Amino acid sequence: MIKRAQKLDVLLSKEQLDQRCQQLGTQISEDYRGEELHVIAVLKGSFMFLADLVRQIDLDVSIDFLGLSSYGSRRETSGVVRMTSDLALPIEGRHVLVVEDIIDSGLTMNYLLENLKTRRPASIAICTLLNKGTNRHIDVPIEYVGFDIDDEFVIGYGLDDAEFSRHLPYIGVVRQESET
Ligand code: PRP
Repeated sequence: MIKRAQKLDVLLSKEQLDQRCQQLGTQISEDYRGEELHVIAVLKGSFMFLADLVRQIDLDVSIDFLGLSSYGSRRETSGVVRMTSDLALPIEGRHVLVVEDIIDSGLTMNYLLENLKTRRPASIAICTLLNKGTNRHIDVPIEYVGFDIDDEFVIGYGLDDAEFSRHLPYIGVVRQESET
């Protein structure tokens, strides 16, 4: 039994997530028609979204991973982005699509974009499953957004609560203790 899941309200169901991945995959396939696409997934949070999204992309796709962390076990950004693992492959001359689970303050994505630009890709675009625009510190250009969400603490489908609950197949909102 998963005790932590009992304190959640479902914000986005598996069916909603599946449907949006299909729509995004179709849109990306049309936008990059005739090109090869190099997908970079930002670990850890994006792993489940990545797996569902790339299965909906009808292009020649290569995939690489990069680890970034700025929250640790806290619910507020530390403001310091840490690279926990670098890419394995060069991106020079490639059309890069960065896949994220959530963009909140924008600090992580801003850091990543500045870093990736120095590696001279042909193009960079961003796809995020969730866009929490209420707390944006730095503006970042986002080409593909799954869902715009309010300022709530969301977990599941890759997103964690102190490293737990990433495996849930839906996105949940943590209920306040007084509501339980
Ligand atoms: C989360 C998420 C993004 C970042 C977004 O990562 O995956 O990378 O925060 O927040 P921001 O826009 O305020 O910078 P986190 O540091 O929690 O690491 P994780 O993906 O390993 O959970």
